[in-house]
Amino acid sequence: MEIDTLLMTPGPVHLDAEVMLAGARALTHHRTNDFAPVYTECVTLLKKFFGTTQKLYLTTSSGTGAMETAIANLFHEGETVLTVQTGVFGVRFTKICEAFRLKTVVLACEDGKGVTVEQIAAALEENPEIAGVTVTFNETSTGIRNNIEAIGNFLQDKGKIFITDGVSGIGALPFKMDEWHVDVALSASQKGFLAPPGVGMIALSEKAWNKVETVKCHGYYFDLKIYKKDQEGAIPAYPWTPAINVMFSLLEALRKIDRIGIENCFKHYEKLAGGLRAALKAMNLRLFTEENATSNVLTVFYAPEGVAPKDIVTEMRNRYGILIAGGQEQFAATLLRITTIGAIGERDVLGTVALLEMTLKKFGYLKQVGAGVSATMEYFLNFK
Ligand SMILES: Cc1ncc(COP(=O)(O)O)c(C=O)c1O
Repeated sequence: MEIDTLLMTPGPVHLDAEVMLAGARALTHHRTNDFAPVYTECVTLLKKFFGTTQKLYLTTSSGTGAMETAIANLFHEGETVLTVQTGVFGVRFTKICEAFRLKTVVLACEDGKGVTVEQIAAALEENPEIAGVTVTFNETSTGIRNNIEAIGNFLQDKGKIFITDGVSGIGALPFKMDEWHVDVALSASQKGFLAPPGVGMIALSEKAWNKVETVKCHGYYFDLKIYKKDQEGAIPAYPWTPAINVMFSLLEALRKIDRIGIENCFKHYEKLAGGLRAALKAMNLRLFTEENATSNVLTVFYAPEGVAPKDIVTEMRNRYGILIAGGQEQFAATLLRITTIGAIGERDVLGTVALLEMTLKKFGYLKQVGAGVSATMEYFLNFK
């Protein structure tokens, strides 16, 4: 029998039918009073979840578009940006800066480890010309959760623009943009916000906005000065044709998160992640990410010696209809990634663990099945 694939990938994540159906509503026109409240309510709820009272704009793009929006609007040609790399998405910021012919100082962190304030301080000391710092909140390629609060506290009086990539992190993990002194925080619809892909988001502090006013944007489509002007019109509008139906879905998802309470979502993900990690430990699978940088969004672990991650992914998808993720780029041959966010529950984590065990038995790594499922069940039963 054909069954829907369960997405246990760290974005896009598994979604509710109600969220998908909300997007199937009849189309409305984006320059009317039918659409403006949809956009406005999305922004209001997102500000709450970003922990900000400052400006927040939506972009018609995935997360990379929001990353590009940040760099294109915040730096003058020739300025230098410190790009912290704790995985593929940190590297992406370096590439975007280079595409706009900005100078970069790269801080590449050790595998499995988050960046420390001391490392950032040393880079700034050595390169006082640095105008901005980019750090990935939750590095989806490596499972590293960087300590944005500590970095923000350190950077607050250094006169730099602090940019955080919150794609996959914001909405799924506690995040307090204003309290943590983040100047620019960005994200996208398809991960922590439990909606389909297609909408990016970017929030800016007053300090960041003052800088935007002085910068000639590198490009036109993502020029935030145009977004601001259109939002301040008689009918608050989005400058171009937005992903209207994705925004319908996004609004449904945001309302749902609000109804449940975002803190309860965090707790739910904590439980699911803990249950998954208990199983991996019981199966003697080695985690990639060091403990103090571990995130509840996803768990990254080494495939057993001699078994290719891609074979595990393929078997689980083709035979059982569960899609987990392999490692990205240099980690493709060694790592596996399983998410614990989305419209999923204990049932889905237990199913994933059981089918992973069956797969690992088939490939000869496990002699017996059941230890993982048992550990997950115990963890769930004891979770408070
Ligand atoms: C942390 C992080 N940053 C940026 C991106 C890029 O987002 P997108 O694929 O939506 O362009 C992703 C997507 O996986 C991500 O997880």
